[in-house]
Amino acid sequence: MTEQKDYRYLLTAHNDHIFNTTGTRPQFFIRTYGCQMNSRDSEKMSALLMQLGYTPATHQDNANFILFNTCCVRESAEDKVFGHISRLKPVKAENPNLMIGVCGCMTQQSIIAQKIEKKLPYINLVFGTSNRHRLPEFLWRAIQTGAPVIDITEDDTLPEIKDIAVTTRDFPHKAGVNIMYGCDNFCAYCIVPYVRGRERSRPMADVLQEIETLAADGVKEVMLLGQNVNAYGKGLRDESATFPELLRNVNEINGIERIRFMTSHPKDFSESLIAAVKDLPKVCKAIHLPLQSGSTRVLADMNRMYSQDEYIALAKRLQTAMPKIALSTDIIVGYPGETEADFEATLKVVRQVGFSGAFTFMYSKRSGTPAAERTDTIPPKVVSERFDRLTAELYPILKAYNQAKIGETIDVMVEEPTKGRGADNTLVHFTSEKNLSPGNMIHVRVTEAKTFYVIGEVVK
Ligand code: 5AD
Ligand code: SF4
Repeated sequence: MTEQKDYRYLLTAHNDHIFNTTGTRPQFFIRTYGCQMNSRDSEKMSALLMQLGYTPATHQDNANFILFNTCCVRESAEDKVFGHISRLKPVKAENPNLMIGVCGCMTQQSIIAQKIEKKLPYINLVFGTSNRHRLPEFLWRAIQTGAPVIDITEDDTLPEIKDIAVTTRDFPHKAGVNIMYGCDNFCAYCIVPYVRGRERSRPMADVLQEIETLAADGVKEVMLLGQNVNAYGKGLRDESATFPELLRNVNEINGIERIRFMTSHPKDFSESLIAAVKDLPKVCKAIHLPLQSGSTRVLADMNRMYSQDEYIALAKRLQTAMPKIALSTDIIVGYPGETEADFEATLKVVRQVGFSGAFTFMYSKRSGTPAAERTDTIPPKVVSERFDRLTAELYPILKAYNQAKIGETIDVMVEEPTKGRGADNTLVHFTSEKNLSPGNMIHVRVTEAKTFYVIGEVVK
């Protein structure tokens, strides 16, 4: 810890010196890929960099330090990152003082860290997901030695990037808040448990304190983040720390108007959680409930621990308790061994549940996962044909969900001058109004429905 502080001190002094001699502070630019976890990590690293005397660059071209916070959940995400990093080679050749870093889920895989070390020697620092708080040390060492710093040591305690302004964030009115890290579910296709480590919950008092700080700084909406938020509290000393209890406590915080959470694993969605979502006024009646596949056989192969019937029954329980609830989902097509009948089982669930939103993915082989060992892979042509059939089935359902809103007046939290979100997460477009800022609550009467958003007029 002392060592960490020394690096912080050295780098701060270094940047202050640059400022005193040149009149400008070094600028940083963080490019974030993937999920909300990564976005929140980037916000925290931004806060850390600002504390070290850097200022945010408005564009990558102006930056003295470019950091890629990467994702590896699918191969396409990795390809994108490599494409973007390679494009910096000539830039770096022209400007050798430019510092380039790569961190996050992709580099946490040692094979990728080695690949960068060997093939992309112009990268200055490479670190992982759980040692991100050591960024000042890595940066200082890279600046001092001029040699690349590659360190993906896993730190199981994951010290929070504490004593920094956690209020640094991308949107003034909303923030993600990590309530737990890692994942112990080991779904057979998924790389997350290998790059984000074991599941561990943050103490409830820490989470609540962070949300109170955010609320005092103007945050009205929080998104509680974890790979499996329903399991929150497992392993904490305080046994009363469960997810429903956390929701009840967050609901009490003044200034917070909307509470969201993701992701829920269907296997852990308890009756007490359904009751908490229903009873707590600030908790949005919108649940992201990844289905992955509708086939009980494929679900077993995927190690998802629920059947088609159990998923449908859970959706029904939620819809019965809260008739207006919005259910969104993730679906993978083309998992190894998926037959036409398995795929049709997925379509059946899609038709039966009536989702309000869905992310659809073609299965992507991730080295190191059990699914990657399978030889019964599905030909790409079949996968893309099923993908198209799935979206053709889904899109009218999403549109129907939005069409049902026509004529209704809904509460919309403004995000941009002409856009905002309903409590159920519906994206709402409206004509520009004067004096609106992010976080304002307005009433919008819905006049038109599209597949991914609705259009409406502001009601005074
Ligand atoms: N291939 C395709 N999709 C995947 N996901 C996770 N791993 C893979 C993979 N190997 C999807 C799941 C998950 C979402 C975040 O990404 O649907 O819920
Ligand atoms: Fe991956 Fe499954 Fe964990 Fe989600 S629950 S992060 S899909 S292993």
